Amino acid sequence: MASVGTEELAHLEIIGAIIYQLTKNLSMEEIEASGFDKYYVDHTLGLWPQAAGGIPFNACEFQVKGDAITDLTEDMAAEQKARSTYDNILRLVKDPDVCAPIRFLRKREIVHFQRFGEGLRIAQDHLDAKNFYAFNPGFDRCMDCSDKPACPKPCPDACPCQGVTPKDCPAE
Ligand SMILES: [Fe+2]
Repeated sequence: MASVGTEELAHLEIIGAIIYQLTKNLSMEEIEASGFDKYYVDHTLGLWPQAAGGIPFNACEFQVKGDAITDLTEDMAAEQKARSTYDNILRLVKDPDVCAPIRFLRKREIVHFQRFGEGLRIAQDHLDAKNFYAFNPGFDRCMDCSDKPACPKPCPDACPCQGVTPKDCPAE
């Protein structure tokens, strides 16, 4: 997962290079006509991270709860949101020199979504792997009913050795 984070920093570099190339050598008339004038007043042509709607980048862009399930689900949503943003850009932009790298970035977000999905599945599969069990749930089926078929599902309270009559054990 660390490699995804490293790659995202490279994505920022790619986007920064696109913005730099699109804005360098703009005339004042071009800046005004393109609606770039407000940004120009605040930042000239320097690269200052913000959303397309003008909201400045800040630490709220990073989310963490410390719960693997929550965080991986959040990561997957973030990748989908990035992919949707690139889809929106591709509907708006016709410049092939912009579309080509955006398509590349879009593909990478899909790969990231898949990687985080695999991580989520691994986390869920091993969620209780380190639990200490008072008994082996694999043994506590109605297997002591030697003359009856073993119960197909765990029913530790229903073990005949404990003198408990299982209510829903098909072996009874
Ligand atoms: Fe990504």
